[in-house]
Amino acid sequence: MHGFAVRELKRRYDVEIHAGKIPMPKKLLISRIRDKDGLICYPYDKIDSDVINAGNKLKAISTFSVGYNHIDVNAASERGIVVSYTPEVLTRATADLSMALVLSLFRRINEGYEIIRKNEWKTIFGPYEFLGTDLYGKTLGIFGMGRIGKAVARRASGFEMKILYHSRKRLSSLEEKKLDARYVSLDELFRRSDVISIHAPYTPKTHEIVNLKLLKKMKKASFLVNTSRGKIINEKDLIVALKKKMIAGAALDVFQDEPIDISNSLTKLKNVIITPHIGSATVETRREMAEITIKNLILSLGGKRPVYQVKVESGRLGLS
Ligand code: DGY
Repeated sequence: MHGFAVRELKRRYDVEIHAGKIPMPKKLLISRIRDKDGLICYPYDKIDSDVINAGNKLKAISTFSVGYNHIDVNAASERGIVVSYTPEVLTRATADLSMALVLSLFRRINEGYEIIRKNEWKTIFGPYEFLGTDLYGKTLGIFGMGRIGKAVARRASGFEMKILYHSRKRLSSLEEKKLDARYVSLDELFRRSDVISIHAPYTPKTHEIVNLKLLKKMKKASFLVNTSRGKIINEKDLIVALKKKMIAGAALDVFQDEPIDISNSLTKLKNVIITPHIGSATVETRREMAEITIKNLILSLGGKRPVYQVKVESGRLGLS
């Protein structure tokens, strides 16, 4: 947690900060939460019903993230505990990373860097050397057209890409027109896109929704990008699709297990780009996230509405 945020919290409350192993071991978390009124957590902390119910005095949980699939929101709501999160402030940073990954895949940036590092760059400007693909005129398929999906669509239209999307809720025709985006079924999205970018939340409904059946529908020359949550993709199926060259490549910022184990094939495949869950990792964004995280907590503990409260709605709950 940023220094300014810790100082602000300490000015108001007795604060206990876990500074040991990350994530904090469950037993330890359960023992330390017993006398706490509020909890600040991160996407890697599993705040399940055992933890929530151990917090006898707990009134507020504030997560330093837009995703809240790590919190049992139902259990919290049953106890009247307010759960808050940090959407909006990380939209741009995450959309920027998604476009960076699309660009890296299309223009083979990582591969280029690798050949230079290995001293394998021999031909200068060969007409057929290191050819990538134009973004211009290609179809970007956005799975999940929430704030981040829309920000990706806006960026991609700057590159003159065509936009298809699939989402739980279809946008209004006005919004579709503004974004120049066409709503299609999930199947059609995977069949027609040159690159798919995932921006759906992780829920029981999206758990491993991207599986071999869906991957088989993709064009051989197409790519998959994921900056949302790793468990939306069946990783084993993706590895099969990549190894068998059923798709051209993937760029992933999130994984089934994080940090990813070095023995995972995704760390070795040439047609894969991986980054360590850095969607929101910019100086400006993380600072804003810290500001919102403490504001949310302070407001909730003061009996007021936090800036961003997680709404209890069926289908969006469940622990990863
Ligand atoms: C979030 O906020 O949920 C992101 O995944 C963290 O970068």
